[in-house]
Amino acid sequence: MKHFDHNHDQRPLEQEPEFNKFIEAAMSRRQFLRTTGAAGTVGFFAASPVSQAIAKTNATPSSLLGFGAIPISVADTIEVPDGYQAEALISWGDAVIKGAPAFNQENDSKAQEMQFGDNNDGMTFFPLSSTRAVLVVNNEYTNNEYLYAHQGKSISADDVRKAQAAHGVSVIELKNTSGKWEVNVDGRLNRRITAYTEMEMTGVAAGHNLLQTEADPLGKRILGTFNNCANGETPWGTYLTCEENFNGYFANTAGGKLADSYARYGLKDEDWDYDWYKHDKRFDISKEPNEAHRHGWVVEIDPMNPNSTPKKRSALGRFKHENAALMVNDDGHIVVYLGDDERGEHLYKFVSKNKFVKGSDSNRDLLEEGTLYVAKFEGTEGELNGQGKWLELTWGKNGLTPENGFPDEASVMVFARLAATQVGATTMDRPEWVAVHPDNKSVFCTLTNNKYRGVKDSQPVNPINPREKNPYGHIVRWRPSKGNHTSPSFEWDIYVLAGNPEVHETGLMAGTANINKDNMFNSPDGIGFDKAGRLWIQTDGKYSNKGDFSGMGNNQMLCSDPATGEIRRFLTGPIACEITGLAFTPDSKTMFVGVQHPGESLAPSHYPDGGSSIPRSTVVVITRKDGGIIGA
Ligand code: FEO
Ligand code: CA
Ligand code: CA
Ligand code: CA
Repeated sequence: MKHFDHNHDQRPLEQEPEFNKFIEAAMSRRQFLRTTGAAGTVGFFAASPVSQAIAKTNATPSSLLGFGAIPISVADTIEVPDGYQAEALISWGDAVIKGAPAFNQENDSKAQEMQFGDNNDGMTFFPLSSTRAVLVVNNEYTNNEYLYAHQGKSISADDVRKAQAAHGVSVIELKNTSGKWEVNVDGRLNRRITAYTEMEMTGVAAGHNLLQTEADPLGKRILGTFNNCANGETPWGTYLTCEENFNGYFANTAGGKLADSYARYGLKDEDWDYDWYKHDKRFDISKEPNEAHRHGWVVEIDPMNPNSTPKKRSALGRFKHENAALMVNDDGHIVVYLGDDERGEHLYKFVSKNKFVKGSDSNRDLLEEGTLYVAKFEGTEGELNGQGKWLELTWGKNGLTPENGFPDEASVMVFARLAATQVGATTMDRPEWVAVHPDNKSVFCTLTNNKYRGVKDSQPVNPINPREKNPYGHIVRWRPSKGNHTSPSFEWDIYVLAGNPEVHETGLMAGTANINKDNMFNSPDGIGFDKAGRLWIQTDGKYSNKGDFSGMGNNQMLCSDPATGEIRRFLTGPIACEITGLAFTPDSKTMFVGVQHPGESLAPSHYPDGGSSIPRSTVVVITRKDGGIIGA
């Protein structure tokens, strides 16, 4: 299917050239290069406190990481360290609602509405008691080659309905009666939210004419959520699901040139072979031009009330949302860090207008109103401990005015990408997940890869995106000024530049000093912290195990100690999968990890059922055989 490239081609306008010249000069001056032999990166990294920590990596093994690193794998299995076990919890097509039929590739839409959706991604564990919990899991997309026995050759109306039912979110009760967490199909909170579940638009864009459609002339009642990538959670017990590549579901059958406001979001005449537009006219832009504006949002779901209406939060902007890293600032404001995963797109921050009040019902409206910002990363002459600014995306400020195409507040949120360009945000190497360290002092973001870096004028090599074509990706870190996440400024550095020291002995392609032949990986994507501050890193990279990627094997999960920069491989996934989605129980003794699209594009995987079965995306439960804390 076309969508395997995920259409990350849209790009904003050029950035200012003086900045680029400075960066080039700075880069050559500082020889941002791996030294031969022993641990150590000079110049660029040596300037920052993080790099000093990273440089010590090999000398001081982490006391936070208590497991033995595992080698790469090309097997069709999950591998974990000695003393650990990984078991399947639930796979695409397994029952979520009582009475659901058993999985069968021939299942219709009615069956799929009661079953676990496809391509599980971000997830959150909500404890109810020591033996009862709710796991909320995103179901990002579908693969025609597995969703349908006919592999998508001729997609019927019910096929579309089935695909729509395989998208969205699965709310699953878990029980732990025998010492391990299992699905409770009888749970009263079990729910499927799909691409046609009714939702409410909230915030400044609610009711705006850009959101009005024939079926919803008031522009407030939206059907469905789809391409739900990663997630977030709130201290008031709700779940956030992030709409990512929504553009791939729309076609424009009338043809002709779409306005820039469509093009910037990757909307084109053709869809990504889902064919929804053939049976559901809201996915045909020429018939329903505003439907596409109703997707690309963060959606808040109350998993404790199966009858609740999910709320789309327009205050968090419309783009290809990856995840929503929400934290409570010291002053009570809610801050949400948000990546827009596309080559040359941006990193955002939302700050709530009102403050969190523990135990108050008013918290439920905190994401309705606030200020959205977008990041501008800068180097500082003489010292490359980076500086950064948050640029405000508020109508009437920073050129977000009618003469520049922003007639009102809502237009800034609906076309947040255009607003980000208007204010001069830095184009990034595909911001995927953001994670806030549990001490609330630092924030991490994966920049997964970007073949256009240094190639397209809009995406020049710069200190924060330092590698041309960036095939391996990197993870950046920043600290808000004075520890205040509502501050307009921050300091940043690069936590790890992934690389392949086996293929490239020196230079940027070898990666930073915390990358070695035993822990190398490419395309970091999912990240998250456990309570103790271990940083878990999941990959969605090239698994050819050849050329630039030789010695990297299948996609994997690693664990890192931010204090030392050390990184160890913890898990390897089956053939042609991505590892994405992670959640922990409060005691940190059970970890849930997602295996997405094993065997994609008909690669020879039979995970998890084996034999001649078709592969299925699966949530895996990981425990220690001695019952201990994961990773310790
Ligand atoms: Fe759904 Fe950017 O990953
Ligand atoms: Ca991802
Ligand atoms: Ca990815
Ligand atoms: Ca994915």
